[in-house]
Amino acid sequence: MKVITTADYGEMSDVGFELMKDVIKNTPDATLGLATGTTPLGLYDRLVGACCKKEISFKKIKTVNLDEYVGLGANDRQSYVYFMREHLFGRVDIDLKNTYLPDGLAADFRSECVRYDGILNAHPQSIQLLGLGRDGHIGFNEPGAPFDGHTHIVRLTETTVADNSRLFGEHETVPGSAITMGIADIMRAKRILMLVSGENKKQAVYDMIKGPVTEDCPASVLQRHPDVTVVLDRAAAGLL
Ligand code: F6R
Repeated sequence: MKVITTADYGEMSDVGFELMKDVIKNTPDATLGLATGTTPLGLYDRLVGACCKKEISFKKIKTVNLDEYVGLGANDRQSYVYFMREHLFGRVDIDLKNTYLPDGLAADFRSECVRYDGILNAHPQSIQLLGLGRDGHIGFNEPGAPFDGHTHIVRLTETTVADNSRLFGEHETVPGSAITMGIADIMRAKRILMLVSGENKKQAVYDMIKGPVTEDCPASVLQRHPDVTVVLDRAAAGLL
């Protein structure tokens, strides 16, 4: 695991951007595994800037996202499909047909998990971008998630619901469950890029890097992946 500590959120985003840009330049038809949340916003802005300047193109790029809230769809401002269109897909030259997310409005979630696993099998990630939950989650694989798991429905922990409520309006409620790629699906990526920012993540960062590999800290499984780059800002690296 390669760990890079940067001064702040901006520098963390710069380093993540350079790595992602190289993948897109070297493999114009790469499959990018993507994440939502606050952490990748700076990286996405930089990718949009590079695409506007014609340094990179998403024309042949495919994307698979980690997760989606159960009950939210493309018209919900809090859905991840909406987030991706707002922050990346709607601002670059990507063909929306090549962008995949689990369907939060599926009529039958068992079939939806099977459908999404099929998409992941057909599009193994050239690189998987990850954020880190305060409880050590990756995707929405909360503590206790099996390392051999594939796409599944998960009940979100209280910590995750509380953390994500900051992004919801006064009259909106955070959904209690989500559909997520499993840990085995994440580990299949050729490369993994994790970005982490903020003091409130420093314990999870420590457990991920220095702790035992255990399902109690889902991110600790990354110690077993052959090509992981973790980019931290100074606050997130506080316990290392
Ligand atoms: C998002 C995801 C989550 C987030 C994590 C960190 O698609 O799967 O694992 O990466 O919760 O979220 P932020 O970046 O908002 O701190």
